Amino acid sequence: MGNEMKALITGITGFVGKYLELFLKDKADVYGTSRSNRGEKHIFKVDLLSESEIMELIETIKPTHIFHLAGLSNVKDSWEHKADFIHGNVIGTVHLLEAVRKVDDQIKVMTVGSSEEYGRIPDNLDKVSEDTRTNPVSPYGISKCAVSMLVNLYHKSYGLNTTHARPFNHIGPGQRLGFVTTDFAYQIAQINKGRTQEPIIRIGNLKSARDFTDVRDIVEAYYDIACFGKAGEAYNVCTGQGVNIQDIVEILISFSNKKINLVVDPSRIRVSDIPRLVGNPEKLFTLTGWQPKRKLEDTLIDIYDYWLKDL
Ligand code: GDD
Repeated sequence: MGNEMKALITGITGFVGKYLELFLKDKADVYGTSRSNRGEKHIFKVDLLSESEIMELIETIKPTHIFHLAGLSNVKDSWEHKADFIHGNVIGTVHLLEAVRKVDDQIKVMTVGSSEEYGRIPDNLDKVSEDTRTNPVSPYGISKCAVSMLVNLYHKSYGLNTTHARPFNHIGPGQRLGFVTTDFAYQIAQINKGRTQEPIIRIGNLKSARDFTDVRDIVEAYYDIACFGKAGEAYNVCTGQGVNIQDIVEILISFSNKKINLVVDPSRIRVSDIPRLVGNPEKLFTLTGWQPKRKLEDTLIDIYDYWLKDL
């Protein structure tokens, strides 16, 4: 203890929160919020849907930086739970920003948005920059767009010291099921362990393309944005490389020693799916020199190994 940075991570026990905590270990005194009681001294049970709970915590801890990671993140789920996504992501952020405004408006707050804020982009646009017009096409994307607008509002109207990260797809060991790389790796690992009757994996739309970054690189970008980002600005966090989902499934299958067949599962097809979403990482690179270090194939091996061990 005794670092200059006192970091509060909302949603510290989530997939990204755990990696961010690990990364900040030697750089900051780290505290976090979770919805459940964890029995760890630095993690506090806080419901962001209660403004007074988060306000009390900020008053007690007096963080220098807040990383606002808490929220609902699964695009497909957001179609089944529209109100929960809008309510949880938007109201949780309002309460946090209100608490910061009332307690100490100079705390640096970094909020996490998403490439889903850009949503369906013009066909002739290869890579999305921060000034590309937002056009969300999922309830999740709309909730994150609202977060982005709220942060902007609090910066412009009250002078809050905010920055906003727009991560593209982030993946890694420990991500829960419901995201494409885990969904595929989990099924392939099950087949390899002899846990299925047939060597088939269920898939959704393989025709889309996304921009994948390892979660361990993502948290380094969050640190850079929180420390060096210009107040009021948004930053893409991405590689700039588009990868077809078809390629993801082929790479993962190549790690297994089995012949595997693909079966389209209609429940994995979305009401609307963005065909291609690839980001331009220039703005963050110019700010701090941040670049992803890990290769996609290495990350996919780690994810596959995680599921082999977990089974
Ligand atoms: N989840 C899933 N499962 N997706 C599949 C599957 C499957 O079995 N088969 C094909 N896909 C396709 C989806 O239709 C989509 O086009 C693509 O794979 C990626 O799906 P996800 O991994 O669920 O990610 P996402 O792009 O919808 O959203 C993720 O990235 C955003 C940033 O770009 C999430 O991590 C969001 O939280 C994040 O903000």
